[in-house]
Amino acid sequence: MNNTKITSVPLLDLKAQYAQIKNEVEPVVKEVMESQYFILGPKVQEFEENAAKYCKAKYALGVSSGSDALIIALMALDIRPGDEVITTTYSFFATAGAIVRLNAKPVFVDIDPDTYNIDPAQIEKNITQKTKAIIPVHLYGQAADMEAILKIAKKHSFSVVEDAAQAMGSEYTGGKRAGSTGDIGCFSFFPSKNLGAFGDGGLVTTNDEKLYKKLVSLRNHGMDPKYYHKMIGGNFRLDALQAAVLNVKLKYLDGWTAGRQKNADYYDAGIKKRNLDKIVKTPVRVPGYRHIFNQYVLRVPERDKLVNYFKEKNIGCEIYYPVTFNSQECFAYLNCKKTDYPEAEKAAAEVIALPIYPELTDQQKNYVLDTIATYYL
Ligand SMILES: Cc1ncc(COP(=O)(O)O)c(C=O)c1O
Repeated sequence: MNNTKITSVPLLDLKAQYAQIKNEVEPVVKEVMESQYFILGPKVQEFEENAAKYCKAKYALGVSSGSDALIIALMALDIRPGDEVITTTYSFFATAGAIVRLNAKPVFVDIDPDTYNIDPAQIEKNITQKTKAIIPVHLYGQAADMEAILKIAKKHSFSVVEDAAQAMGSEYTGGKRAGSTGDIGCFSFFPSKNLGAFGDGGLVTTNDEKLYKKLVSLRNHGMDPKYYHKMIGGNFRLDALQAAVLNVKLKYLDGWTAGRQKNADYYDAGIKKRNLDKIVKTPVRVPGYRHIFNQYVLRVPERDKLVNYFKEKNIGCEIYYPVTFNSQECFAYLNCKKTDYPEAEKAAAEVIALPIYPELTDQQKNYVLDTIATYYL
């Protein structure tokens, strides 16, 4: 095996992960099937208790996806048509989509070029009388500057919804966990996340009992008690099969994250060793933060040509994300100026995510690194 010549590396290999946990997952899935108890119930509750502890939050509530986590969070905070919600211009579409789905106005802010997260220095100039909330995103698994963001939100009295979809277990200064210090934290269990379900799933976290109760009700059509509706919610429920799988996987999460961090160190060192560090920029890690490397993202010259070269060499890679929110066609009505977002526009042209999943072998990482070296040197 060790001498096998590597000729391809996938971006993600979930089968390798499944092989490790198959013996534990299959019985719990069978248990749910035999119970025929599919909607919410004890498996979901057990997962919520474990997830709350893991996220260092008082309450956690399983929901149908990370996208729905964001929507239900904004609903719980009473975001209404015409309200303004500040967010980064550089994230997965769901972050901005949730705001618009509630008929609120997204106000996009440029990013810090090192972390790719919202630049706190540019938030205040975007605040108006209509600002009701901010959604910082902990992109790629490294927390945004929450200390600065929470300070601004407190000063101007608006809510903070953390988009921690890519950041379960990520920490900022003082070991504070992503999703535990804003009003509501939102997580995704899309299969490619560090903690991935066997389908769609998500989580909201909060320390506020009133918000928690509201989220519980909104998750099930705003029903409280049964068939009586004080609010309009939706079907935002996590199902028991997903919760059963997630309960098993959660025990492995720190180990898998450590594997990703080790791979990131290996890439960083390998890039330096091959004298590529003057050409490509490795991820900047904020001191005192815990980066969980949902993605390992390089900044490279001639990015699209490198992507084509990777394709020739059978290396999986992805661009997170090729288009900033301010440049999306569906947001043309906001009349954003590209020149207001120079850092995000630059990132969109230069970033490339490498395979970083924990089961990668050294040979596979070397194949990726050697391919980059052959391309540039
Ligand atoms: C930053 C961010 N926000 C929101 C989401 C939405 O999560 P989901 O795919 O579970 O709906 C994702 C998932 O890719 C994400 O990366």
